[in-house]
Amino acid sequence: MACCHTETELEQGDTAFNVDASTITFGEGCLSEAGDIARFLGIKRIGLMTDPVLATTEHVANVVASLTAAGVDVARYDDVRVEPTDESFQAATKFAIDARVDGFISVGGGSVIDTTKAANLYSTHPAEFLTYVNAPIGGGVPVPGPIKPHIACPTTSGTGSECTGIAVFDLLEMKAKTGIASKMIRPTRALIDPTVTETLPANVVAASAFDVLSHALESYTARHFHVRPAPASPSSRPSSQGANPWSDLGCKEALKLLGTYLVRAVDSAEDIEARHQVMWAATLAGIAFGNAGCHAPHGMSYSVAGMVKGFQPEGWPLGEPIVPHGMSVIVNSPSVFRMTGDLDPQRHRDAARWLGADVTDVPDDQSGAVLSDQIIDLMKQTSMPNGLEGVGYSASDIPDLVDGSLPQRRLLDNAPIVIDREKLTELYEAALRYW
Ligand SMILES: [Fe+2]
Repeated sequence: MACCHTETELEQGDTAFNVDASTITFGEGCLSEAGDIARFLGIKRIGLMTDPVLATTEHVANVVASLTAAGVDVARYDDVRVEPTDESFQAATKFAIDARVDGFISVGGGSVIDTTKAANLYSTHPAEFLTYVNAPIGGGVPVPGPIKPHIACPTTSGTGSECTGIAVFDLLEMKAKTGIASKMIRPTRALIDPTVTETLPANVVAASAFDVLSHALESYTARHFHVRPAPASPSSRPSSQGANPWSDLGCKEALKLLGTYLVRAVDSAEDIEARHQVMWAATLAGIAFGNAGCHAPHGMSYSVAGMVKGFQPEGWPLGEPIVPHGMSVIVNSPSVFRMTGDLDPQRHRDAARWLGADVTDVPDDQSGAVLSDQIIDLMKQTSMPNGLEGVGYSASDIPDLVDGSLPQRRLLDNAPIVIDREKLTELYEAALRYW
């Protein structure tokens, strides 16, 4: 299949790509299908995982009612921590073991879905905690085999965790975000009901939507799968396999939808069409990045979120400082895409156009800038933080931000440019402030 890279690179690279995805059900009211699906999967006693805020919502009540009506025994865990840690993953694992369940259902955002993946993994294949965690922080040991069925029900239109084999957490001892990445932990089924977005606060919709936007842009501009070294065996081909014709499809459509609906979805909770379409964009981008992988903006986001100082955004429970995932990503994105434009001007120009920019007569050497400027324009329209300074950092924090991100090789090595300490420093410096 044709691509833009050189023959020399092609000779050393992979020659095929995988198409992997959870089986997805998308549509209004589909949370009520949970019971039938659980029964179809052969689950008799299910572990329902959620967080304390969601625990009393109608979303959880609908799922429980559906499971109960189908005759599935429900064991509840309402204590998932938002922004999970190694400790909270292990607490959820203890529940999973003690409850003796034969399947899981997660109802919540990325934190809940990721926690369920980890609890499912460690309760099925017990091991010392760092065993399956990404190297070099963890052992990077491959998951030894299938885990129990997991039905993921996202309640925000962002993370795409329902479509991926990635579980992210804070490793408290190192004050670093890291994760577990394996196709084996990808949820078995995803139930995506767009009506769950109708009651979300505007700032939550905005942060989630920018996470989606960056998933699509990063997957679309990632190193092409042809230039990733071929895996030692076909079965070890990674999920972060680089941009490929399958992931491109989802990225293109997600970016077009976001260009039309992102600002509308944030501006008005009454705009049901916009909120539902952003949920569909999140699904498409989730499938795409689950098959291509993100790159630098997400790699840089880990330390931006992990080293949080006093930032407390509107729309999140007060008390604990937090840089929500979507914000920790999007503060980096304009800086990265300004730099990567030269590597593939057409892709950057097309992405800018799909997001609403006028790209008429934009020369190749300005394609990164025009995409960067379009993202910044959308950030301004939706009151996103103005770069790293907007979430509480200053230039003196950059060495620590760089140290925190350098171990994220799975993400950084998926970028179309070589990212070392100097390049990361340059990227963070350019991300300090955008307007
Ligand atoms: Fe993300």
